[in-house]
Amino acid sequence: MRLKSLGIIAAGCSALLFLAMGPLTAADAPAVVTAPDTIKMESKIYKKHTKGVVTFSHKKHAEHKGVSCTDCHHVYKDGKNTWKQGDPVQKCDACHTETGKPPKEMAKKDVIAKYHKEAVHENCKSCHKKMVDKNSDMGKALKACTGCHPKK
Ligand code: HEC
Ligand code: HEC
Ligand code: HEC
Ligand code: HEC
Repeated sequence: MRLKSLGIIAAGCSALLFLAMGPLTAADAPAVVTAPDTIKMESKIYKKHTKGVVTFSHKKHAEHKGVSCTDCHHVYKDGKNTWKQGDPVQKCDACHTETGKPPKEMAKKDVIAKYHKEAVHENCKSCHKKMVDKNSDMGKALKACTGCHPKK
């Protein structure tokens, strides 16, 4: 009797779990992303935003086939990215802190490591170059500044 009611409780629990999870099984459940679906990128390190504020579709990107969290999120230790999914995420401007014009003689790598706009542009644009067909409507749109920065 005791065993039987335990069984019923267990069955009830898994039914509840099933309801809570919907028709997904553990294997095809999407990655847990605590970030909002869209993120307004309006870094406070700029005195003034000269360009329209970018609304970045975090969800669309994170769910896109062939794109992984570590394409955009990193914490470098000894030159290696040690960030993994579930770790806290800092804003890009927590580390890429500089604004303005980088000195001409600075190496591109150092510019990207320090300067916010350059780091973010490098991230967004280098991947679009690889993954979005430049002759598609989306590719053409993304080549223009207004593909990301809406006209003010
Ligand atoms: C294509 C680039 C890209 C991918 C892929 C991506 N993210 Fe992000 N994520 C961003 C950007 C950009 C921000 C905003 C950073 C900022 O505002 O400085 C962000 C912000 C976040 C935040 C903070 C949100 C907040 O409101 O504070 C979390 C958490 C996060 N991402 C987790 C993830 C996880 C987990 C994945 C993988 C499932 C992922 N991201 C994939 C670019 C990306
Ligand atoms: C915890 C600090 C930190 C945060 C947060 C951070 N970066 Fe970086 N990032 C670095 C450092 C340090 C380097 C330089 C690594 C090197 O040169 O070996 C770097 C390098 C880069 C590079 C060039 C190399 C690469 O990995 O592609 C890009 C592009 C970049 N960051 C973009 C971003 C973007 C976009 C965000 C926000 C989504 C971000 N970073 C958030 C510290 C950070
Ligand atoms: C690792 C690759 C990758 C990175 C990094 C990346 N993107 Fe994308 N992005 C894509 C792909 C792939 C598409 C095409 C999505 C599709 O086919 O729907 C796309 C499409 C877009 C689009 C058009 C569709 C939409 O979402 O409205 C915008 C705008 C965009 N990206 C903005 C950004 C911004 C801003 C950043 C940097 C913060 C960024 N992307 C970084 C891969 C990337
Ligand atoms: C693929 C998307 C994308 C494209 C295309 C793009 N940007 Fe950006 N840009 C960004 C993102 C994301 C930021 C970071 C905004 C923030 O976090 O405040 C940024 C920041 C900036 C900033 C610093 C903030 C400000 O508003 O003053 C300037 C200036 C800028 N971009 C100019 C340009 C120009 C000029 C072009 C065209 C040649 C361009 N961008 C194309 C995504 C893009």
